[in-house]
Amino acid sequence: MCGIIGCVGRGDETLDTLVHGLSKLEYRGYDSAGVAMANGGVDVVKTAGEIDDLRRTLEGSALTGDVGIGHTRWSTHGPPTDANAHPHQDCTGDVAVVHNGIIENYQSLRDELVGAGHTFTSDTDTEVVPHLVEDALEAGVDPERAVRDAIARLEGSYAVAVVVAGHSTVYAARNDSPLVLGLGEDETFLASDVPAFRDYTDQVVYLADGEFARLDAEGWTVTTLDGESVETDVDTIEWDPEETGKSGYDHYMLKEIHEQPRALRQCLRGRVDEMAGTVDIEDLGDLSPTGVQFVACGTSYHAALYGAQLFRNAGIPAQAFLASEYATSVPPIGDALVVGVTQSGETADTLSALRAARKRGARTMTVTNVVGSTAARECDHAFYIRAGPEIGVAASKTFSSQQVALNLLALGMTRTVDTRDVITSLRELPGNVQRVLDESAAEAVAEVYQDADAYFFIGRGYQHPVALEGALKMKEITYKHAEGFASGELKHGPLALVTEHTPVFAVVTGDGEQARKTVGNVKEVEARDAPVVAISDGQTDVARYADHVLEIPETHPRAAAVLANTHLQLLSYHTAALLGRNIDKPRNLAKSVTVE
Ligand code: F6R
Repeated sequence: MCGIIGCVGRGDETLDTLVHGLSKLEYRGYDSAGVAMANGGVDVVKTAGEIDDLRRTLEGSALTGDVGIGHTRWSTHGPPTDANAHPHQDCTGDVAVVHNGIIENYQSLRDELVGAGHTFTSDTDTEVVPHLVEDALEAGVDPERAVRDAIARLEGSYAVAVVVAGHSTVYAARNDSPLVLGLGEDETFLASDVPAFRDYTDQVVYLADGEFARLDAEGWTVTTLDGESVETDVDTIEWDPEETGKSGYDHYMLKEIHEQPRALRQCLRGRVDEMAGTVDIEDLGDLSPTGVQFVACGTSYHAALYGAQLFRNAGIPAQAFLASEYATSVPPIGDALVVGVTQSGETADTLSALRAARKRGARTMTVTNVVGSTAARECDHAFYIRAGPEIGVAASKTFSSQQVALNLLALGMTRTVDTRDVITSLRELPGNVQRVLDESAAEAVAEVYQDADAYFFIGRGYQHPVALEGALKMKEITYKHAEGFASGELKHGPLALVTEHTPVFAVVTGDGEQARKTVGNVKEVEARDAPVVAISDGQTDVARYADHVLEIPETHPRAAAVLANTHLQLLSYHTAALLGRNIDKPRNLAKSVTVE
């Protein structure tokens, strides 16, 4: 769950390029950081803390070189200390390594290396790698072979990059952790993700598991770990480097919340024909699933819960599973399609659930934001949500884009009866989201309730996942206790928690039986003196029982779920801002969770 960068060919700009790249990767982890530069030898500067701490540490150093690697860390082995920060070195200091992932056999390798006389200076699993390379170099093997041999001994997940003293080359390899090359003119980059080098090039090569890359003044090569040549595709990145800046917003999260109209338009583009009332997802082929099993984590799991309802309501059996639980008791799959919903396409729990399904012969699909991600490459089908890069750790625009993408999938795969209504409401969504963004009273509500002890969110049907997501967002970025419940469940226990100090946010849309029942649940909490905030389209009389109303335009219940969520995103954002939280980088969290 760390970020890696490497570059060759940037001359005097090398160090700045590495540090700039790390700042773009900070969303992957941010408890320590470091860089290594290869010149005649190898020099390393690293520190616990964020990239700004690394910048300060570098001010006092005279680091030079035109080949380098860098790392921003999110701890898995050992606490975030200077010693545990990457790069890690061997006993001679001639080898430096950065790594993302978990080396499962590190303890036995470490015992063996210590037995052979090596001295370790960190608690990390990564440190075995430079010592293995050192052994091979001492045995007279050339650096490239030494790195290949060292990597061949690793079990587990890794993206690694290595530099060796006296060689202007970066060596890299991946297994189960992302790594992508950036191809510039006379300069080559590698990184865990494209934003790290997007300012310099839009030409990329995604490494696959088991591949090995070599970057030097001559250019780059990709082979298997055994040295056999492989065919690589050069892809062009279509989004602009500007898209990863804050564009005047105080936080990436706020910018990304406001990017939703555009993101939703992109998701819909070329996929719906409003006149004909049809959805075109033919590039996925004829899937006709007899059932759908969704696997996902966190926010993506909430989107999956919503997606499962879409399919069930179209007559297809569908269930959403927490990816981390799926493999512990894999349900009978039969002819079901197993769909991993994952923004990053790199979440270890989701990848492992998809692999468990594939092992049982299932057809798999991912609904993801990242082209070339591991999920996209490993699944039989990939459906892209096209939200553009999301930097804020808390998912916002990618959740609404997942909701829209899942609507398209459900419509495209199931041919439901009221397609035209839904399609119209989807086409209207970008404009309606913009209206909510322009008119939302969420900031004022946040001011009123910023000191509450706990927050509860309730909703039914399509609004149940929205209630869960509202609560997750609130706890993630405000560090306050928040829970989401199915409205009907409140009276089965959680009602005991409701007091005049616990605001209840009730999502009530439409005028059907479900909405009327939720209004009944609202009366139950109002009778216990809890402040009530209704998120409502005005079709019920819920406003009579509410202290505040966050209004949404009247639309199809599926689209209403996206609009209601927009208010709740703003509510959490403004509450966190009032409390002075680190909104884009909440404590203990990382954007992409590549460990189980
Ligand atoms: C919450 C959040 C996380 C992710 C989860 C899955 O705001 O972002 O809960 O949704 O870690 O990540 P992806 O979607 O990348 O698989």
